[in-house]
Amino acid sequence: MKKILLSALLTASLMAGAQTVIDINTKKPGSDIAPTMYGVFFEDINYGADGGLYAELIKNRSFEYPQALMGWNTIGGVEVKDDGPFDRCPHYVRLSFSGKRDKATGLENRGHLGMSLLGKEKYRFSLWARVPQGGEGNLTVVLRNLGSQEENFAVAEQKITVAGNEWKKYTVELTAPDYDVEKASLALWLNGNNAVDVEHVSLFPVDTWKGHENGLRRDLAQALADLKPGVMRFPGGCIVEGATLDTRYNWKNSVGPVENRPLNETRWNYGRERSHMDYYQSYGLGFFEFFQFCEEIGAQPLPVLSCGMACQFNNDITKAGDWLAQGDSLKEFIQDAIDLIEFCNGDPATSKWAQVRAQMGHPAPFGLKYLGIGNEQWGEYYAPMLKAFMEPIRKQYPEIQIIGSAGPWPDGKEYDEMWPLMREAKVDLVDEHFYKNEEFFLSQAHRYDKFPRKGPKVFAGEYACHGTGKKWNRFYSSICEAALMTGLERNADVVRMATYAPLFAHIDGWQWRPDMIWFDNLRSVRTSSYLVQQLFATNRGTHVLPTTCSDGDIYASAVLDKDDNGAIIVKVVNAGASDAQVTINLKGLKGDHEMTSTTLAACNITSMENVNYGKVADVLDSDNSLAHPDNVAPVVNTTTVTCPAVTINAPARSLTVYRIK
Ligand code: AHR
Repeated sequence: MKKILLSALLTASLMAGAQTVIDINTKKPGSDIAPTMYGVFFEDINYGADGGLYAELIKNRSFEYPQALMGWNTIGGVEVKDDGPFDRCPHYVRLSFSGKRDKATGLENRGHLGMSLLGKEKYRFSLWARVPQGGEGNLTVVLRNLGSQEENFAVAEQKITVAGNEWKKYTVELTAPDYDVEKASLALWLNGNNAVDVEHVSLFPVDTWKGHENGLRRDLAQALADLKPGVMRFPGGCIVEGATLDTRYNWKNSVGPVENRPLNETRWNYGRERSHMDYYQSYGLGFFEFFQFCEEIGAQPLPVLSCGMACQFNNDITKAGDWLAQGDSLKEFIQDAIDLIEFCNGDPATSKWAQVRAQMGHPAPFGLKYLGIGNEQWGEYYAPMLKAFMEPIRKQYPEIQIIGSAGPWPDGKEYDEMWPLMREAKVDLVDEHFYKNEEFFLSQAHRYDKFPRKGPKVFAGEYACHGTGKKWNRFYSSICEAALMTGLERNADVVRMATYAPLFAHIDGWQWRPDMIWFDNLRSVRTSSYLVQQLFATNRGTHVLPTTCSDGDIYASAVLDKDDNGAIIVKVVNAGASDAQVTINLKGLKGDHEMTSTTLAACNITSMENVNYGKVADVLDSDNSLAHPDNVAPVVNTTTVTCPAVTINAPARSLTVYRIK
């Protein structure tokens, strides 16, 4: 058998003039490819949520930050009070006459990392207010252009009359000028002598993603939708665990009326290096909004919950301590998991948490299928704790697939210890993370070829190529990611999900890089890693085709797409420094066929710019930037080819996706 294969290879090479040969058997489709194969991983890191995807422009809108007026400038009679209408967000502000006729009373907010306004965009301002003494009070809300050289900062304003001493919500719309305002702020002035109490002061673009009032920033949400992800993992990452158990992501605090969602600390404010000190989680983008968004973009939701262990990187894990929930205190965490399943899939007629979902506007179930328990866990405690979750979940909800963790690293002692434990626990999938250099990514393109076929499947839950000594977005890293992804795809029977990480980063507020999408307050840019993900996800196909490749620098995978009339899709990566002549030998396919190729290649890059580092010296270090968002862009060609042997040129440092009709 081996001999026959060898002689076939030899003949193909001779026919093709000793070119690299990719052999694909088009008549022997193998495993199906899970619709969840390529997805996105969302975490509130790098200002991914507040100040990012969540479209709220006001920082500390409920005055619940540790210093109640963090994010606010004040003048005149401004007093913080704490007996407000929302029990979990009790603070509010009383605006009263300053005592001096010529001294105004007001509040100003400059956003999370500054505030910007899109030209001509409509903004919805809202607040809760009352007049404590009864009667009428008057406010003016102003959108300001702080960069203006005019006499007045105001570019739009509206008056609000507050009536009576009961708390009520007031809403007005303001329209930005017909140019983008980069340095904007919102001011709220008290008019007249009557004091007014204000709470939950909010400003959203009216035109959010799908127009939701508590909505998402349009360009960022669209970038995710354009990836056509099959699965969306949220809310992290380390914030699932929290630096302490109390500050873990508590999904129950993230649902219900947005005014009453308590503030949470973020674990990403801990280290000194890139702490912004005023970075918190408002929970405004909460679990309801995540599930709703998943539904809208056609991605399976994959929530990950705390397993009762606070972040193992933040704690002394050599002994049990307050970072670990044990005995009775673990029961609360298990109950959170059960209640989440009810929130997603339960019947509002019988289930309390399903009622919360229905009250929020979604009576139909969200159709939860996957649940992650724990993020990057290792050591002696995790497996028994996971089992304590699995027992009741398996009993009550056997349809839910459970995802366990293989720790933070893709190899080494912890990884080797965790996999057998996950097998023993009989989880459905195991979450592996790899943040490694180019060498690792290229060498691991065959990582799963000999992986055990029995037992849990793989979820490559966080990965990104971190260039040696260069942890920033660069074109060559994305080519190495593509090389590894051909291996995920060839082994789609074992690897059922893969999500690059992290997803978002604010250019002025990041803690971690590289990242897939960078943004400032007005613009966003899709990196070359994004484009690689998009090429794989939009060319996922339905079944693996057996593929072998004869050259060290060339990486390949092939799939059949039953949803596109049996089209064959071949992905070819040339990680090498020279162009390569490659023969794609499509065994079983004859005659003329239309072939579309989509190529990302170093030779098509024009600007030596990088989203993180501005100008760079080497084309391999360049990437898209806010100034040049299409520096790296796919080049598409359509031609007719005669099968079975199709010769192509794979440009140096490139990924090409061929779709053969
Ligand atoms: O993606 C950034 C971080 O990397 C995640 O929060 C964590 O899971 C991993 O260590």
